[in-house]
Amino acid sequence: VSTTPISLEEFQALRDLIRTKFGINYDDTKQFLLQSRLQTRLIKRSVDSFAAYHRFLLTHSEREAEFAELASVLSNNETYFFRERAQLDILAKEVVDEHYRNGGGILKVWSSACSTGEEPFSLAMTLLENKRVPSSALQIKATDLSPRALEKSSVGYYRELSFRATEPEMIQKYFKSFQDGFLISDDVKRMVQFSRINLLDENAVASMGPVDAVFCRNVLIYFDKPTQKKVVEAFARALKPGGFLFLGHAESIIRMTQLYEPVITPKAIYYRLRPPV
Ligand SMILES: C[S@@+](CC[C@H](N)C(=O)[O-])C[C@H]1O[C@@H](n2cnc3c(N)ncnc32)[C@H](O)[C@@H]1O
Repeated sequence: VSTTPISLEEFQALRDLIRTKFGINYDDTKQFLLQSRLQTRLIKRSVDSFAAYHRFLLTHSEREAEFAELASVLSNNETYFFRERAQLDILAKEVVDEHYRNGGGILKVWSSACSTGEEPFSLAMTLLENKRVPSSALQIKATDLSPRALEKSSVGYYRELSFRATEPEMIQKYFKSFQDGFLISDDVKRMVQFSRINLLDENAVASMGPVDAVFCRNVLIYFDKPTQKKVVEAFARALKPGGFLFLGHAESIIRMTQLYEPVITPKAIYYRLRPPV
């Protein structure tokens, strides 16, 4: 199959469809990025133009399956273990303190755009190292839009780049060497439940609750402002009262919504769900 380059009209039609379905926003400078990300999907579906691919997504009987495949090629899945460690320290200290102030029980933490699994496994390792909550009382949920990223998470095999911020002792303790990389240990893997969720699906987001903390890092940057607001407001339905929200360092919701109280420390910013007015 040979395809002609994406036209402006095709770009705009596909861009709008993708934004509506997944929130991911390709602005006018990203026409050729989108073209290159979609190219393999056109080949797989044996369609020879972007217009025909757009039609496939609207009308074909396998359109839902194709949307799932599309989700795997649209995003940057860049991530690594122990990213923004200051936020993990807040999890181990403030979130756990609040958990005990509320009477203990199961501590539930949700990594809501978990990519290939480094983030939820880091949450699990942080809480295991911390030892204040027994592992039997820890529950880590991990979700992403991309079936391919989730597949990789469930295998738990990682290579060098994933470990750029990991201390060697942690690798020794929580991984086994395998070929030219490492496999996450079963003890850590067991703590994390993976599933597929589109953050634009408000009911699916609410159904993940009640959780003590949500990590939603480095994904809002791909959404436009109204979508960002919608997503963080949906988290309010999944969080326990006073629950914690952690975003990426380039993502601020300070002037976007009154539902959260920002907490600014020298090393990290996070948000607490305000009581209802
Ligand atoms: C750059 S990764 C961030 C990984 C991790 N949270 C971190 O900070 O290292 C962004 C992830 O967001 C996911 N994503 C994009 N749009 C999404 C949506 N609408 N719902 C759920 N996940 C989405 C992508 O599949 C990708 O795995």
